[in-house]
Amino acid sequence: MNGKNILLCVTGSIAAYKSVDIARRLIENGFRVQAVMTKAACNFITPLTFEAVTGRPVLTDVFSGPFSHINLAKEAALFMIAPATANTINKLSCGIADDLPGNLWLTHEGPALIAPAMNYRMYKHPSVQKSISGLKKSGVGFIGPVSGGLACGEEGEGRMADVATIVEAAISALTPKDLKKQNILVTAGPTREPIDPVRYISNRSSGRMGFAIARAASRRGAKVTLISGPTSLMPPENVCLIPVQRAPEMEAAVMKHLPGATSVIMAAAVADFAPSAMEKSKIRKDDISAITLKKTPDILRKVGARKGRRILVGFAAETGKDIESAKKKLRGKNLDLIVLNDITQKGAGFDVDTNVVTIIDKKGKITDYPLMKKPEVANIILDRMLEIK
Ligand code: CTP
Repeated sequence: MNGKNILLCVTGSIAAYKSVDIARRLIENGFRVQAVMTKAACNFITPLTFEAVTGRPVLTDVFSGPFSHINLAKEAALFMIAPATANTINKLSCGIADDLPGNLWLTHEGPALIAPAMNYRMYKHPSVQKSISGLKKSGVGFIGPVSGGLACGEEGEGRMADVATIVEAAISALTPKDLKKQNILVTAGPTREPIDPVRYISNRSSGRMGFAIARAASRRGAKVTLISGPTSLMPPENVCLIPVQRAPEMEAAVMKHLPGATSVIMAAAVADFAPSAMEKSKIRKDDISAITLKKTPDILRKVGARKGRRILVGFAAETGKDIESAKKKLRGKNLDLIVLNDITQKGAGFDVDTNVVTIIDKKGKITDYPLMKKPEVANIILDRMLEIK
């Protein structure tokens, strides 16, 4: 996010403590965060906490510095209020500027996101609902609130949305939507081919690369369907996740969603072999001498045969930088791009946060990329996809 500035206004709700985590995660994602607090927010958490996390002085008063009520807003790529109380929302909707967030609101000209937090009765109140709908009409984004237990002990719609959802909304609000017209099908993770009810054949894929592609594509405006084998990863926000176990299940899910897809990116490490038959009961160790295997369906080859005008991207996980083998897969599976990774290289392949890839296109152009975090590799793959005519 190249150090884009986010103005994070914290108002007087018990959820204020969660905003510390919002600030921390935004910084981890490359943003600079300027926290501003209302006097009421300071009853719940101290400015020092935000100063420690953001590394910047926190302002709490219109008179904290000359023109800070104008300059902070001018510098901000995004104006966030989390948590936003009923009082703040009502004041913003009619432009009352009796505190620092209210003043900044009137001077800010870019995108804005509000994460309300309040008792469900306050949220339902006609004045609050009217303010929210007016602000929405003027282009302000709202995240939550969600239903659940409230600090006062009651249950209802009023809890601030999850920190992860709020952070994702901020990232998405500042990501150009260059994939808006795309409907992208992504596969990820390993498949598990059962031997008996207890055991299976699989591989070391963690699903990180496919999940990173799905998340990046969604942030860039694509509608994303993610078909994934078993992983321990949190599903990306705003992505339709279809969990599967075995290769034939992945094949069925891919074929079902293929007609609506404009592009397919197959990052899954589909198990190449499965036991010829799954035993119904646990195999006793004295009863086995060998397992007979059969090949699983080659899903990408089948997709390649029905490619149409879709863009197809495959992966080639090789033990060595085997360009010839990757080119063979590119041609044999009718792909536009293949992403070769040599899993023996440090920082590449399975179960790590980084990757080292070479991308080969169907015209034979070969591009080597340095060691990068998987989210960066994901964006490069999407950039390369967009270049295909
Ligand atoms: N793939 C697939 N179905 C399979 C095996 C692989 O759809 N049964 C896809 C993978 O998702 C990947 C590409 O095909 O995008 C290449 O996978 P890879 O395992 O590198 O190659 P294989 O074709 O399986 O050949 P081999 O294992 O012999 O190298």
